[in-house]
Amino acid sequence: MIYKEKDLIEKTGLNLDQKSVDLLQKEKEVQVLSSLDIHEVAHLFTNPESYFFRSLSHLELIRKISTKNISIWFAGCSTGQEVYSASLMLSSISDKTLVGTDLSRKYIEKALSGSFFVFRKSEIKSLKKYEQLPQSQLHLNNNKKSLDVKFSSIKKEGISFDIHNLMDGPYNSGFDIVYCRNVLLHMTIKGKKKALSSLKDGVKEGGILILGDTDPHIFEDNWERKKHNNAIFWKKKW
Ligand SMILES: C[S@@+](CC[C@H](N)C(=O)[O-])C[C@H]1O[C@@H](n2cnc3c(N)ncnc32)[C@H](O)[C@@H]1O
Repeated sequence: MIYKEKDLIEKTGLNLDQKSVDLLQKEKEVQVLSSLDIHEVAHLFTNPESYFFRSLSHLELIRKISTKNISIWFAGCSTGQEVYSASLMLSSISDKTLVGTDLSRKYIEKALSGSFFVFRKSEIKSLKKYEQLPQSQLHLNNNKKSLDVKFSSIKKEGISFDIHNLMDGPYNSGFDIVYCRNVLLHMTIKGKKKALSSLKDGVKEGGILILGDTDPHIFEDNWERKKHNNAIFWKKKW
């Protein structure tokens, strides 16, 4: 199968250049994949960067408004650090549903493994605050400069992960919170528009949408822009 730049951009919404497409072309294994298998090759041209407690003010906002039975969709969650961070911060909330989705199967498999090697000082410091919680095991390595983190009982904590393309509509509707940061900024104008529409459709009436700082604003009567400390978010009024 020969991938065309235009088709890939259309399929992912991403602002890809010819270099990423050439890289993909070079991978023998992907040449026979059907066009449905975008999830199998997405790791070859997407940016997976994520880390624990990234966008802390937005995670704090989630913590503040979450109550029993809260449902949150983390769209474009990469390898899942933002989902696990939220789960640690919401450990006292029962019956929660935290769904992480991403375009790439490889990233989702990594997220499902629940195993992470952490070396950023700030991440290690933040994670160690949750050392006593049973759902995460932290092992400081001999050099004391890195940390092995293993999350267990994912299901018990209400966490699930799945592959999903934001170009195909919402993963599901009726979420209390839809969280999507550092994803739309990699997209074309058309891609952003489609992704934003999927995200909005995922939010229930009265629910909220949390986007990245440079993402498009929503100019619709049923959406209200709100602020909590440094965190901007959008409330769906009806
Ligand atoms: C830079 S990471 C951000 C991860 C996480 N949200 C964070 O802020 O730490 C961007 C993620 O968006 C995902 N992505 C890109 N296009 C997508 C699409 N069309 N549908 C779903 N996810 C997509 C990529 O696979 C990548 O994992």
